[in-house]
Amino acid sequence: MKRIWAALIYLATGLLTAIASWLAIGILLLSVVILPLLPITAPHIRRIVDFDRQRLTRYTGDRTPSPPPLDGPWLHRAQRVLADPDSRRDGLWLITHALFGTLFGSIAIGIPGALVQQPIVLLTWWASPAGIENSFGLRVDSWPKALLSVPIAIVLTLILLQLPKLADLDAKWAKKMLAPPKASLEKRLAEVVATRAAALQAHGAELRRIERNLHDGTQNKLVGVVMMLGIAERTLKQNPDNALAALLRAQDAAGDALEELRNVVRSIHPPVLEDLGLDGAIQALAARCPVPCVLQADHLGRLPAAVEAAAYFAVAEALTNVAKHSGARHAWVSLGINGDQLTVIVHDDGKGGADEKRGTGLDGIRGRVAALDGNAEMSSPEGGPTVLTVVLPVGR
Ligand SMILES: Nc1ncnc2c1ncn2[C@@H]1O[C@H](COP(=O)(O)OP(=O)(O)OP(=O)(O)O)[C@@H](O)[C@H]1O
Ligand SMILES: [Mg+2]
Repeated sequence: MKRIWAALIYLATGLLTAIASWLAIGILLLSVVILPLLPITAPHIRRIVDFDRQRLTRYTGDRTPSPPPLDGPWLHRAQRVLADPDSRRDGLWLITHALFGTLFGSIAIGIPGALVQQPIVLLTWWASPAGIENSFGLRVDSWPKALLSVPIAIVLTLILLQLPKLADLDAKWAKKMLAPPKASLEKRLAEVVATRAAALQAHGAELRRIERNLHDGTQNKLVGVVMMLGIAERTLKQNPDNALAALLRAQDAAGDALEELRNVVRSIHPPVLEDLGLDGAIQALAARCPVPCVLQADHLGRLPAAVEAAAYFAVAEALTNVAKHSGARHAWVSLGINGDQLTVIVHDDGKGGADEKRGTGLDGIRGRVAALDGNAEMSSPEGGPTVLTVVLPVGR
């Protein structure tokens, strides 16, 4: 009974998404005719298909992950939609689901409806002088016709018992179209192994960086403070009138050391993230950027500290690069959450031609992001625009 119920819900909600699929096919056809519409409509179509992924997950109990969301600036989306095999599979799913989802969903709703009608017809036909029409168009106006409801109900029950098989068939096809292909799973496994190694390496590099900063900056300054205090002590014994100046110098040096230490702490987890959250902290970065920068952010809520820090540092570095190298007139930052992924895009209309080999900033972003099993992509053709896309799993 539970299985029949689950199949009924799966197929009936499938009828709703099949109707949405018909609509999506219409929009898709329009977007193919008027091509510039495609990057605008594609993310919405992806959302409709993602709803089917959730439906499939609920029915099978196996998580069906969504491909990375199609967001970001128009040009970037255009490149992705045209090159992306996931979008093609989504399109094929829409067509088959529009047809079979409508058929299977109508069966799933129609059979129980007709089944409920049979006892009602059997027991109440005589109350109406002209008889009652049953769901198969037969006018029931005599007992022999009314008794036909019994075999009809039996046949309908037998069909109802087969609904789980129909739902399983539909789910099997859905899994084939909507789940990541096996090759991509194997690739994913290789990536996980590689990112684990990268995580260990990045962790080691981060420790070394902190150690170097503490050693070269803070520790040196503290050594200076100790020396100056020694000088002040000696001056106090030999020439007390000059001791105050020596003490003040030591105090200044201690202040510097403290500032240095604060910088090291900020580079581990910027306190602004604690105070304002990721969207607030990035809003502050965008406001400080010398190139006019527009931020578009979903309400993100709190994310794991490491994810917030990686996203923050990526945007900070990208905006510094925009100001330093791009010659751009405008920059855009977008932050979006889709399921279990945070997507951060920094886009500028500058001269492009960014080359990771020429500095350490972009490489640093890649390392930090890879350590969290995320992905950073840079697109920067000569003449621009430059788009940095960072996708980070948020572990929800
Ligand atoms: N938004 C951009 N527009 C144009 N060129 C860029 C942009 N971002 C980076 N670049 C180019 O790519 C190179 C590498 O950038 P990267 O951030 O790795 O190094 P950097 O900024 O030069 O030095 P740092 O190590 O201090 O970050 C830069 O030297 C610059 O020439
Ligand atoms: Mg840089």
